[in-house]
This record gives sequence, C-alpha cells and structure tokens, in this order.
Amino acid sequence: MNVIPCNEPARQYYYMDRVRELLKEETKKAGRPLTYHIQTFGCQMNAKDSEKLAGILEYVGYTECDNENADFVIYNTCTVRENANTRVYGRIGYLGTLKAKNPFMKIALCGCMMQEPKAVEKVKKSYRFVDIIFGTHNIFKLAELLYEKFNGNNKQIIDIWEGTTEIVEDLPSAMKFDFKAGINITYGCNNFCTYCIVPYVRGRERSRKPEDIVKEAEELVSKGVIEVMLLGQNVNSYGKGLEEPCSFAELLRKVCRVEGIKRVRFMTPHPKDFSDEVIEVMKTEPKICAHVHLPVQSGSSRILKRMNRHYTKEQYLTLVEKIKRELPDVSLTTDIIVGFPGETEEDFLDTVDVVKKCGFDSAFTFIYSKRNGTPAADYPDEVPEDVVKDRFERLLEVCKEQSENAAERMTGKVAEVLVEGLDEGNTGMLTGRLSNNLLVHFEGCDKLIGKLIKVRLDECKGFYYLGSVAE
Ligand code: SAH
Ligand code: SF4
Ligand code: F3S
Repeated sequence: MNVIPCNEPARQYYYMDRVRELLKEETKKAGRPLTYHIQTFGCQMNAKDSEKLAGILEYVGYTECDNENADFVIYNTCTVRENANTRVYGRIGYLGTLKAKNPFMKIALCGCMMQEPKAVEKVKKSYRFVDIIFGTHNIFKLAELLYEKFNGNNKQIIDIWEGTTEIVEDLPSAMKFDFKAGINITYGCNNFCTYCIVPYVRGRERSRKPEDIVKEAEELVSKGVIEVMLLGQNVNSYGKGLEEPCSFAELLRKVCRVEGIKRVRFMTPHPKDFSDEVIEVMKTEPKICAHVHLPVQSGSSRILKRMNRHYTKEQYLTLVEKIKRELPDVSLTTDIIVGFPGETEEDFLDTVDVVKKCGFDSAFTFIYSKRNGTPAADYPDEVPEDVVKDRFERLLEVCKEQSENAAERMTGKVAEVLVEGLDEGNTGMLTGRLSNNLLVHFEGCDKLIGKLIKVRLDECKGFYYLGSVAE
C-alpha cells in the first residue's frame, strides 16, 4: 500500500502521479488525447493562478485546447464587480450543454467568486453538472480533488477554505508566454478599502520569502523568460511578517540582480506605501520598467477617506509630482471609481482635476459596483444611475484627451521593445511593448518574437504607435 505524504508539495505530487495513471485509462477509453481549457476572468493574480492550474493539468496528461469543447474545463472566476459575476453565470449554462454531449467532460469552478457562499449556493442549486468547486486558497490541491472525482465520487465536490497561512511552493506551472511571466510576491490584502471584496475572497496579506521569489525568477530565466512582473494587491507593503525582514525596494534590487532578467515590472503599488526608497531603486536600476500603475480611485479627499484609502488628494498629487520629477520617462496609469456612495458633483470635479493635473497615460475607469459584505454596501447615499453614467462619460472624455497628449511625447524617438507576438488585426505586423507599457505595431518577421529590439516610433495612434525596426 502506498503511504500518502502529509507535507506539501509532496502530497500533491503523489496525487498528480495517481491521476496521471487514471487519466491514461480514460484516454484509452476515449481513443484520443484528453484536453483541458481554462477560462480566466479578472486580474493578473487570477491569470497567474490559471498558469499553476494548467501546470498541474499538463503534468497529469491533459493537453491544452483553446476553447470550451474540451474534456476538462475550468472557469477561474472574478467577483470584483457585479458584471464579472454576470459574465460567469451567463456561460456556465453553455458548459452544461457541452457536457451533455461529451461523456468524458468534467467542469470545475474556482477563483474569487467561489469564496462567496451565495455564489456557491447558486451553483449547487442551479448547476448540478459542475463537478468540482474550489476557492482561491487551495488551487494547489487540484490534483487531489481530481483524484477523488476519478475515483468514482459522482457528487459535486466542494472544497472552499475560509483562509490560509500556507504558501505551497514548487508545484508545476504552464506559462502562457515563453519570454515573460508574473511572479507572486504577496497573496491577499489587508487594506480593506470599503468598496472592495478582494480582502474577503483572497484573505490576509502574506509575503513569499525573497529567496523563493529569486529562485522562481532564476527558474524562469532558465526557461527563456526575460521580463518578469512582480504581482500583489499592494506590492509595496511587501515584507511584513517575514522572519527576515525585506522591504519591497530591497526585493526589487534582488530581482534585478538575477542574471538573464532584462525587464522588471510590478503591479499594483498603493499610493500610501510608495516610499522614496522605491523611487530611488527605480532611478538606479535600469531593468525596472518606466511604468507606475498608481490607482487613485477618487480625487476627493472626503471620498478617499470614506473609501479607507489612507491618503488625501494633496498627498496623491505630491507623490505623482515626485515620481515625475525623479523619473521623467515614467508613464503613469491609474484606476478610478465613479459613483461611490455619497459622491457629489464637487467630489467628482476633484477627480477630474486630479486627472488633468497628473496627465495619466491611461486610466481604467469603473462604475462603482456594490459588493455585499463590504462596508460601502451599507452606505445609504447611493448616487442615482443617470448621474453616475453622465459623470462616467465626462470622465472618459477627459481621460482620453490626457492619454493622447501623454502618448504623443515619444513620437519620433527610438525605443527598446519586447516583441510579444503577431499583431492580430494586421497580417505581417508584429506587436511589441515599450518599457512604459505602450504597444507598438511594426513590420517584421516572427523570429523576433520574445526578443528585445530597437524600434522607431513613427506615428502615435493614441493608445499605440506605428513604428519601424531601427537596427
Ligand atoms: N489591489 C489593487 C487593485 C484591486 S481591484 C489596488 O488596490 O489598486 C482593481 C480595481 O478595481 C481597483 O483599483 C478599483 O478601481 C476597482 N474596483 C474594486 N472594487 C470595485 C467596486 N466595488 N466597484 C467598482 N470598481 C471596483
Ligand atoms: Fe481592494 Fe484596496 Fe486591497 Fe486593492 S488595496 S485589493 S482596492 S482592498
Ligand atoms: Fe477579481 Fe479576484 Fe482579481 S476578485 S480582480 S480575480 S483578486
């Protein structure tokens, strides 16, 4: 008899090996290779989780398929705004019709939405055909859950953890790109912005050890990666609770020292934690990309206080001024919420004012979405829908003007781009990304994909450039 290891990741490797054997039998029965498809909703954190899930599925013997006509479909869900949930519900029914036609098909739901008891209840009641439901804290357990399913458990398997202190290292991961990858540096969030569901569905903030992060970066380099993005809900609060203290700035230095890494990005910093030391590291480490995504959320100090953001309009503007002064080439992007409860016209005009003063290169604008269980969901003074819509459109207009002006400043220059792939809309054209995160389309051959090359930015098209290879 086999002894099942108690410790991770050994336990999961044990289950992956068992599932691999069972899947071989299934494959024989099917008479064809069995496939998987993962549909990812939401942010970079979810995208990274999906790569881990894909790593497990490839290890056990599934091959990737680019659509839902697969034998194992996972929806990795998001619940940050109501429309994220609506999109998922809209599609689960469709999976049911596919499953009715394919006796080998299995369906799993995971991710942030599944951390909400209400969503799980709904799936239990209305979508009995879903095989496995798991959450954000136990994605590493996929093989163990699959084993249970393959071993004849015909019931819907539900395994949701309320939280965790565990970080499981060293499981396989299947990368979406060969040349760039995300690296988790923190999990969860402790900020509790009053509108936001993330701390409830992703748990308390935990930092990975710097040596584990550096090791992952080195492994990625050995697979051909040259650009990494350090991921966390609040990257610049990195390091709290570590046995040996390490600040975000120190971590950036360590990652920059990894030989073979050419570019380092990070997402998302919080304005309240953006230290001078981080600005200094950005100034001195040429590998760090010239891009800061700095969500402002609102320009009104009164609303920011109600949002629990821990900074005022003036503090945000001072920070932006400092960043722009010290890092003149940096592109600055942001997130903005319109229609937070109690937002007046005057508050809104403060937001417009901040957009104008900062000249964001791009801004992601969202209409406030009430999330049950967050403090703001109980705030009484909701803004009427027509008022929110009107403000949203006015804001879009201002943001568009600003980003067009901001992009123009690079026209005519030669800059380094990482060639990411073929330009989907345009045959014979390639797409590359500048250090400041803007895209450039230019003519070239696909051998350049994954390489850093110099491109002349001939014409600015607002959100992207048309360029030509300069060397
Ligand atoms: N941790 C990051 C981003 C988290 S979610 C940060 O703090 O910046 C990404 C964005 O979604 C947020 O920046 C915010 O602008 C938006 N968002 C979060 N909750 C929202 C809600 N309830 N309604 C509308 N937008 C929301
Ligand atoms: Fe949400 Fe705020 Fe945490 Fe970002 S920092 S994930 S907005 S609670
Ligand atoms: Fe959505 Fe979860 Fe990210 S709620 S935005 S996928 S952390």
